[in-house]
Amino acid sequence: LVVGGTRGLGRALVRLLSKEGREVSVLGKRAPEASEKLDGVKHWSVDLLDSASLSRALDEVQKRAPVSELALLQRFKGAEDWSAELDTSVTATKRIIESLSPSMPEGGSIVLVGSIIAELVADSTPVGYHVAKAALHHMARFYAAKLGPRGVRVNAVSAATFLKDESKDFYLKNKELLDLYRRMIPLGRMGTADEIAEAAAFLLGPRSSFITGQVLTVDGGLTIQSQEALARKLVPVETKK
Ligand SMILES: NC(=O)c1ccc[n+]([C@@H]2O[C@H](COP(=O)([O-])OP(=O)(O)OC[C@H]3O[C@@H](n4cnc5c(N)ncnc54)[C@H](OP(=O)(O)O)[C@@H]3O)[C@@H](O)[C@H]2O)c1
Repeated sequence: LVVGGTRGLGRALVRLLSKEGREVSVLGKRAPEASEKLDGVKHWSVDLLDSASLSRALDEVQKRAPVSELALLQRFKGAEDWSAELDTSVTATKRIIESLSPSMPEGGSIVLVGSIIAELVADSTPVGYHVAKAALHHMARFYAAKLGPRGVRVNAVSAATFLKDESKDFYLKNKELLDLYRRMIPLGRMGTADEIAEAAAFLLGPRSSFITGQVLTVDGGLTIQSQEALARKLVPVETKK
């Protein structure tokens, strides 16, 4: 089950899982276009903020097939709104995990998508997003400890800004911005939704069978640098005496 699988990173993950021949259920707010339909993929249109509709959708998903792998990457969109941000990201995640995990089989896996903003401050981004992402990283640890004895793993992916279908043109047309990312990121470029989806798929699948409670940062090395080193890289200053 991919929650938030109708756009961006979620859609990239759904495409990847469908290509691997998996049966995928998707929750998103809007109904997908006919052209977006993929083999083995079934959509449910539901507003995560409507708890009764969410429970109904989860029941139907379970009837289709018991959920063994669960990825949560919904993102609140709209004007700055503390409650809606936390309800969409944190409360819906808790509800979905607590509703589905009791029937997940041994070997089941859950992946939450967080952000480097869980640890760092970007003052142009609302405080609710920071708090929600920090909560998700810690929820991965909490549920890993709680569900581990049943053989269910829980991890998080911490992403930096990536290129997705919806934003690619904006970034690729803006040479100055692209050049800034090239200079900031040790790997010299922005990551893509497909690359973040690969990390999520790794944590979801059996190849990560002994990894749980971890936050995997997928940022091309951006956050391993000290702020001072980063600033010096962007604004070279003569330091020889
Ligand atoms: N974009 C980045 O550069 C970036 C960087 C770091 C971390 N992240 C994280 O990566 C994840 C994916 O980001 P993204 O940019 O790919 O997201 P996105 O394109 O905005 O897609 C968000 C998804 O969440 C669903 N959604 C939002 N509110 C909902 C609601 N109330 N009910 C049901 N579905 C709802 C959307 O459904 P609809 O399609 O129906 O609207 C959509 O499928 C998020 O957790 C985000 O915080 C993103």
